[in-house]
Amino acid sequence: MEVAEAIDYRRALRALDTRVIEDNKVNALVEAARLSASCFNNQPWRFVFCTSPESVNVLRTALPKGNAWATRAPMIVVVSAAEKDDCQLGERRDYFLFDCGLSVGQMLLRATELGFVAHPIAGYDSVKVRAALGIPEEYVVITLIICGYHGQDDSLLSDKQKAVEAVRPERKPIPDNIYRDSWNRPFE
Ligand SMILES: Cc1cc2nc3c(=O)[nH]c(=O)nc-3n(C[C@H](O)[C@H](O)[C@H](O)COP(=O)(O)O)c2cc1C
Repeated sequence: MEVAEAIDYRRALRALDTRVIEDNKVNALVEAARLSASCFNNQPWRFVFCTSPESVNVLRTALPKGNAWATRAPMIVVVSAAEKDDCQLGERRDYFLFDCGLSVGQMLLRATELGFVAHPIAGYDSVKVRAALGIPEEYVVITLIICGYHGQDDSLLSDKQKAVEAVRPERKPIPDNIYRDSWNRPFE
């Protein structure tokens, strides 16, 4: 799959199959994450790949009703990082979250290419996740990447979630947030 194709094809889908993701595909995700760029090559990300029924089950208890769809996932990747592990250059330029985002972005595209959904979420109880996996206090629990093959069973989706399953949510018009040559001068 071409990169452009993966960018276009990637979706935060929610109707997941419970089928286990093969080890070679899990390893490919690890490699995609590792090869990401980072400030000074600091690689601040910490990923916990949860694939055992025990670890996935405990994470399920940290999901709110709105993310009930994620309870069908056979794998959840917990992403965390700490300020101290990455560049801090002043003027709020702390790069740990940015570098994690880059790495996660690569994982999402690789998962797309490998034929399964990797859907980051912010809706979870981070206190429960931290306690369940033993994540130290100084590490922010940034996102859970819900992974699984796309399936037919949408019974855990709300009506709104069912509606966006088939159609990608609208993006803002380009002039709203992309400029050319000067702040607020629309990119045309
Ligand atoms: C940081 C982050 C947090 C998100 N949190 C949730 C979430 O808690 N639940 C959910 O169903 N989707 C969540 N999403 C998915 C977004 O809603 C989705 O990416 C967005 O609507 C655009 O849709 P698309 O990715 O299919 O293009 C999250 C995405 C990101 C990047």
